[in-house]
Amino acid sequence: MTTTVIALTRKQLDATVLDSLATVYLAAYGDASLPESRLDAENFASSTVPRHARRDGFRLVVATTDGEVSGYGYGFTGKRGQFWSDWLAGAAPADIVETWVGDHFELVDIVVDPGHRGRGVAGKLHDVLVEGLPQERALLATAPDDGAAARLYGGRGWQVLVPEIDGSKALYGLHLDGRAV
Ligand SMILES: CC(C)(COP(=O)(O)OP(=O)(O)OC[C@H]1O[C@@H](n2cnc3c(N)ncnc32)[C@H](O)[C@@H]1OP(=O)(O)O)[C@@H](O)C(=O)NCCC(=O)NCCS
Repeated sequence: MTTTVIALTRKQLDATVLDSLATVYLAAYGDASLPESRLDAENFASSTVPRHARRDGFRLVVATTDGEVSGYGYGFTGKRGQFWSDWLAGAAPADIVETWVGDHFELVDIVVDPGHRGRGVAGKLHDVLVEGLPQERALLATAPDDGAAARLYGGRGWQVLVPEIDGSKALYGLHLDGRAV
């Protein structure tokens, strides 16, 4: 099994790419037999991703395993005035907000198709996604699902900044200083 990961610019976000993101999203987060799940995945590809792609610092990585899209990851520069940054500013302790929130790289998600999990796809996506980022810090929130997310990020330098920030989610931070090439 061979997996390759490529970074795509916002101009390369065509219908084929968006369709493949929707397919992985649906397989990971939904139930293809349910109309509401299919609608949610369509909305993700037709609205959420294009909206996020217009933000500064947008970066998308897509993994292909044996010719099939097996996962994706993306993020952008998080700024005050955006929903999540402003929400965090009210939800996280003041010292964390002061140090971490604003002009960070906001890692929105890394998602791997369930049929391709446990074979290092997310690790590859992560490493290409953060390679050479110009920001000084990166942030993400995740619910450590079956342990894979915690292991993925914990093993790659991310630290838990706030153990419970949004229900079962933890806020993670990564220092990027010195990573930029
Ligand atoms: C989290 C997720 C992206 C991991 O994808 P994956 O391709 O299976 O992950 P990898 O095979 O690259 O493994 C990453 C690490 O998790 C570990 N891991 C994988 N599956 C695991 C499991 N079921 N339990 C515990 N650890 C696991 C691996 O050993 C690896 O650790 P290492 O880097 O120390 O070797 C995938 O489970 C997923 O898409 N989950 C739903 C979406 C999500 O929660 N994304 C994260 C939110 S940002």
